[in-house]
Amino acid sequence: MNIVIIYDSSTGTTAKAAEAMRKTFEDQGHMCRVQSVAKAKPADVSEADLICVGCWVKGLFIIRQHPTEGAMRFVERLGALSGKNVVVFCTYKTAVGSALRQMAKALEGKGAQVVGQFKYRGPQPNNKFASFAASLT
Ligand SMILES: Cc1cc2nc3c(=O)[nH]c(=O)nc-3n(C[C@H](O)[C@H](O)[C@H](O)COP(=O)(O)O)c2cc1C
Repeated sequence: MNIVIIYDSSTGTTAKAAEAMRKTFEDQGHMCRVQSVAKAKPADVSEADLICVGCWVKGLFIIRQHPTEGAMRFVERLGALSGKNVVVFCTYKTAVGSALRQMAKALEGKGAQVVGQFKYRGPQPNNKFASFAASLT
């Protein structure tokens, strides 16, 4: 499978998580590219079989959590994603609130099917993600 991971990171945690996800996908025999929202081109991204979009959680730590503007702006720039499988992920410290749901909703609005939602407290993807990666054919 051809997978692309797009991330928005301020201090490097989400970038590290994205790289770790790539390694897991590659260990399962998939092709995977990782790009920041600043560098990624919407047209290239749309060609992937699976698109993963991730960012850090921004908010007031216990309330009003949301995805980063950079991640949401990137999603807005994507064309129609009808029938595309997408994954959303985020890194956080205390609580994610509706951050993942907000990203998922924006991608569903483009016609994508959200097949996975993952939150990591730090740069390491969790077992739930590992199981997901192992289940991909
Ligand atoms: C301005 C600001 C607001 C944040 N708000 C939240 C929050 O509401 N909930 C939370 O769990 N973490 C919050 N965090 C923590 C970051 O989401 C977390 O440290 C993340 O892993 C940073 O990712 P990065 O290193 O890729 O930038 C906030 C961080 C900053 C700088």
